[in-house]
Amino acid sequence: MSFERGDALLRLNQTTADRPSSFRLLGREWDLLEGVFAPVYCFSTRLFASWIAYPEGGGFLEVGSGTGVVAVTAALGGCARVTALDISPEAVENTRRNAARHGVADRVRTLRSDLFSALDADDRYDTVFWNSSFIDPPEGHVQETDLHRAIFDPGYEAHRTYLTQARRHLRPGGRLLLGFSNLGNDERLRSLADEAGLTIRLLNTSGTSLVPGVEYRLLELLPR
Ligand SMILES: C[S@@+](CC[C@H](N)C(=O)[O-])C[C@H]1O[C@@H](n2cnc3c(N)ncnc32)[C@H](O)[C@@H]1O
Repeated sequence: MSFERGDALLRLNQTTADRPSSFRLLGREWDLLEGVFAPVYCFSTRLFASWIAYPEGGGFLEVGSGTGVVAVTAALGGCARVTALDISPEAVENTRRNAARHGVADRVRTLRSDLFSALDADDRYDTVFWNSSFIDPPEGHVQETDLHRAIFDPGYEAHRTYLTQARRHLRPGGRLLLGFSNLGNDERLRSLADEAGLTIRLLNTSGTSLVPGVEYRLLELLPR
């Protein structure tokens, strides 16, 4: 069921005919480039962007920033320093444009990066967040495009890196957050969290009535 839902979302994102070049969300207008995860086809972006407690005056790191809605909202919400990473060059450009559009280019740094690879070892933040590619596809699935990578994580390899490496980029007392869902592989996530010495706490949930059968969950990963 999860894979089919992910595949349907992929197809919506791949359809170029009626794909808008901008969209309205959270009271603002945003640029949307082709090949970038579009917050118009799914509720996750707006829910997580609204639920996160942004560290006022602090540093916020977003992994997988896509169009940049969360990173820009963090900067507008009072974060002094935001870094937005994405593996997709189109997403990096999309985030850069939206930071400029909303007047926060001076405090949103955009970098192309496979998870944390482009960060310096001593680059640390008060909050680290990823609205993750939580669909675990069947064996043999091929990540043909960056849009596949925005939705699927074969073998949960990206989740493993996120869970094992994120704490290196947190200040003491910093918070590690994950935007997840009941379409994700809970068992695998729990076992990766165990391996990384983390426990999972549920911070917020959409319940299943907003989108029948889908529950978006904002999780915090805490050291054991
Ligand atoms: C579910 S989308 C979320 C996009 C955006 N944050 C939002 O909420 O609309 C997941 C994002 O993670 C990015 N991503 C996937 N694997 C990644 C990796 N290994 N390193 C960095 N970004 C990655 C994708 O390109 C995509 O932009």
